[in-house]
Amino acid sequence: MTGSGNFQILGWANTLVRPYISARLITPNVTNITDNFYDKGYTYSLNEFTEHKFRAVKREVEGEDMSSTQDQVMAALSTVIEPELHKDIVSLNMVRDLRVEGDTAKFTIVLTTPACPLKSVFEERCNAAVVGRVAGIKQLQIGWDAQVPTDRRIHGRLNVPMHSIIAVGSGKGGVGKSTVATNIAAALAQAGARVGLIDADILNPNIPTMTGLGSGRPRVIDNKMQPIEAYGIKVISTGFLTEPDKPMILRGPMLHSAIRQFFTDVEWGNLDYMIVDLPPGTGDAPLSLAQSFPLTGAVIVTQPQDVAVSDALRSIAMFETLNVPILGVVENMAGDFFGEGGGEKLAKERGVPFLGRIPLEAEVRKGGDYGRPIVVHMPETAAGQAFLKLAQTVAARISVVMLQTADVIPLNIIG
Ligand SMILES: Nc1ncnc2c1ncn2[C@@H]1O[C@H](COP(=O)(O)OP(=O)(O)OP(=O)(O)O)[C@@H](O)[C@H]1O
Ligand SMILES: [Mg+2]
Repeated sequence: MTGSGNFQILGWANTLVRPYISARLITPNVTNITDNFYDKGYTYSLNEFTEHKFRAVKREVEGEDMSSTQDQVMAALSTVIEPELHKDIVSLNMVRDLRVEGDTAKFTIVLTTPACPLKSVFEERCNAAVVGRVAGIKQLQIGWDAQVPTDRRIHGRLNVPMHSIIAVGSGKGGVGKSTVATNIAAALAQAGARVGLIDADILNPNIPTMTGLGSGRPRVIDNKMQPIEAYGIKVISTGFLTEPDKPMILRGPMLHSAIRQFFTDVEWGNLDYMIVDLPPGTGDAPLSLAQSFPLTGAVIVTQPQDVAVSDALRSIAMFETLNVPILGVVENMAGDFFGEGGGEKLAKERGVPFLGRIPLEAEVRKGGDYGRPIVVHMPETAAGQAFLKLAQTVAARISVVMLQTADVIPLNIIG
């Protein structure tokens, strides 16, 4: 190439690289590129100086053509479908900080829950979509983060920084609501989520015992009650406020305000998941709760036998009437004693998800009595594993429901 072509090349190169430099608007860059081009002794004719070759030179001079490879990687990632949400990970805004270094594409996947068991699935799908499909990329380096989506209705209604509120209920007493609530909370906290647990069984609180906080007394700072922490869960319960041998005598309106105050007068800080353990039945407590706060969803606990199932059915109907999404049904205490399958059948019949089956195991009961949730102390047991899986399933369902209800208007207050 002769020096006489210099001006032409510069003019031509200028249009070619304009998009590249437009962000910086530094004309000398072009000069630098072309100067380097000459320094390296290339002798292409103007005709040969195609976009392809120019890019090749630019790559050599300035490193890879990051921006366009980056775009190609992003485009390839937009074909990766989130296994639970059934949308692509780019439109879900899960791919962040994408950059290309040499033959490696580096990015972070922001999951919708820290309790996501599907990292290997993401990894596989991303690799299949990018490696060998985008020229020059031989490997991926994926970092992980999690950001629980926000149930926007909560922010509209409550001045508390909670991403989601999940009620655990059932029509029948003693089926394992508090056990399920405690173990889900502990499993989510172990996974790295910020978790609160409200014991909404105001009259017969069991959560202090189950979390090993029996003698806890919350401090009050600036007129706000401080929750007590166990296993990474922030807990509040009337059990912390009364003597164990004294009955709580409260009428409906006081119950209502007690539950409200647990939300509004406690210093929760930022929470990804607020789990609410309800008393049995379809009475005041679930009604108060659902009327006062937009619930992200309800987990219905049932034993496998028919009697429990028919009570759970009433509970589902109640939440549906209150416009609370049903996250699904948990079948607890499955085994020889109470049988198996009733919860799953109920879920199928009602067209709601079946979240999982927890076996009847003595260790679960001991864990409850001694304040040592089985997911923390004996995660290797069948029940421990079942609870861990349950927590992941519930977290995934919450993400799905939040995505579905993101723009839903606030609940109607009944009565
Ligand atoms: N899978 C299980 N295996 C063995 N014991 C269990 C299991 N689930 C719960 N339990 C035990 O059964 C008893 C009742 O459980 P829990 O208190 O959680 O039920 P609940 O539905 O919250 O009761 P309530 O209606 O009184 O609030 C507890 O002693 C608990 O430890
Ligand atoms: Mg209970």
